[in-house]
Amino acid sequence: MNIRGYRRPDPNTQPPYLYPAYRSTRRRAPTKPLIVLPHTLSEITGPVYGHEDVGELDDDLTRQHHGEPLGERIIVSGQVLDEDGHPVRHSLVEIWQANAAGRYAHTNDNHAAPLDPNFTGAGRTLTDADGWYRFVTIKPGAYPWRNHENAWRPAHIHFSLFGHAFATRLVTQMYFPGDPLFPIDPVSQSIPDQKARERLIAHFDLGSAQSEWALGYRFDIVLRGREATPFEALA
Ligand SMILES: [Fe+2]
Repeated sequence: MNIRGYRRPDPNTQPPYLYPAYRSTRRRAPTKPLIVLPHTLSEITGPVYGHEDVGELDDDLTRQHHGEPLGERIIVSGQVLDEDGHPVRHSLVEIWQANAAGRYAHTNDNHAAPLDPNFTGAGRTLTDADGWYRFVTIKPGAYPWRNHENAWRPAHIHFSLFGHAFATRLVTQMYFPGDPLFPIDPVSQSIPDQKARERLIAHFDLGSAQSEWALGYRFDIVLRGREATPFEALA
């Protein structure tokens, strides 16, 4: 069978494995040259998730407990497209984030900020027939980390997308416009291309806000597309 693989991303749009200012990359970066493996059927046909895997309230992080979480309620929505501009339909989008005080509901997080008993900070949904997703959540707080002295992560929401194949899998972070911590954050600044970095910043979107209820942010995501048919000029 002739397998059509996926394009490799432009290297300047992706963070390098080693970025010394982002301290943990010093330990986890590969020390040997990578081996490029050709795509096979298993990476381009799965995994596939069905509607039954996603619960009714999984896309509303403000309704997963008895009470309402504290913080600024927001709606985060966007369209998932492939590199050719086609919507990525019915595919899994997962998010996880800190609460409004900048604390994760996780045993490894010992930041001296309060936990919120009404906020777990994890959600998932499937894109619709046009590639759209939508979450209702709370705006996360910034939090300190031990990368360097007085280091703080800008407010962010972690995203995981599978697309239609393992080769399109994307794990990334969404940031908020105007955050003063973004330009000094080694994680996001490790991406060489400035335009690519800015694609990680959501847009404030009054159109997706809900009157007297929640503000809206739009975050569109592009996953790897299949190789387009090569163009051949008429000789
Ligand atoms: Fe985080």
